[in-house]
Amino acid sequence: MGDERPSLDFPASSQSLFQSYLPHHGSQRSDSPGTRPFVTLTYAQSLDGAIALSPGTQTVLSGQETKAMTHYLRSIHDAILIGAGTAIADDPSLNCRLTGITLATQPRPVIVDPDRRWNVSKSQCWKLAKNKLGQEPWIIVDHIDVADVEEHISPNGNMWANDGAWYSRIPRADVHTQHGAVREIPWQAIFETLGREGYQSVMVEGGAGVINSLLRPDNLHLVNSVIVTIAPTWLGQGSVNVRPERRQDDSGAIRPTLRLRNTKWHQFGEVVVMCGRVDPNSLPQVVP
Ligand SMILES: NC(=O)c1ccc[n+]([C@@H]2O[C@H](COP(=O)([O-])OP(=O)(O)OC[C@H]3O[C@@H](n4cnc5c(N)ncnc54)[C@H](OP(=O)(O)O)[C@@H]3O)[C@@H](O)[C@H]2O)c1
Repeated sequence: MGDERPSLDFPASSQSLFQSYLPHHGSQRSDSPGTRPFVTLTYAQSLDGAIALSPGTQTVLSGQETKAMTHYLRSIHDAILIGAGTAIADDPSLNCRLTGITLATQPRPVIVDPDRRWNVSKSQCWKLAKNKLGQEPWIIVDHIDVADVEEHISPNGNMWANDGAWYSRIPRADVHTQHGAVREIPWQAIFETLGREGYQSVMVEGGAGVINSLLRPDNLHLVNSVIVTIAPTWLGQGSVNVRPERRQDDSGAIRPTLRLRNTKWHQFGEVVVMCGRVDPNSLPQVVP
């Protein structure tokens, strides 16, 4: 299968609007192990904070202009990360169709799928990789069968290849939040693993479970920028919402989860794109 869809262009004048919210190095994956990557959280929502009409369904919220924007953003990140729910519901291509991109500069799709619910070899991104139109997906799992592991191990030893995909095992753990313990693969460990493989930037594209977890007060320090497309529509009750945990201060009072800094709002056609920075100095102290 080739990719017959047209290449996309995002004009330089629009690109410049995003510079201060993006990693500075561009997409230049390094072969030497590095530190935790720059993390950009990006998604599209309705006026009532919903990202899909109902769980497990795909809802188009953005227009042609923001489609090109998404591909531009992909082009300057080393990896694109989604959760298993999005991989199963949307079967996204997760490659970049910006004019001029080569296989070497395609971002790596990363799917957090602890129990391997997603059928990788039936997916769009696996097929695109087979046709050299995207990088092979990298799946973060909670456990791995020895039989699944080929001899091929990445140079830095954090991922194993099997039938056109790469795997890393990062076990779930009890993560303590202000509202109790959550059993999940710790985000710090996920990003540090990417960093050890030389990935310097990650664009997180959803879905709700991933976004709500990363916007939780105890994970906010891992996020650098947020880019949200807001569509002039309400998806209504029963939709899938971005609604992270609230924060509690030392006295037990409820506080907002986060207020972004240095925000800029840009209109593209009928939608608005909001960019903001997570200022590490203004993050609340989290006392679980
Ligand atoms: N509008 C937008 O911009 C946008 C973008 C993306 C997706 N979406 C929509 O969002 C919906 C999918 O959202 P979702 O919440 O179901 O799925 P999701 O956030 O993509 O994936 C959640 C699942 O991924 C796994 N996971 C993710 N992070 C994990 C971690 N740190 N530790 C352990 N497991 C982790 C878990 O799998 P297990 O359940 O197997 O444990 C979890 O249930 C779809 O309807 C999709 O169309 C919208």
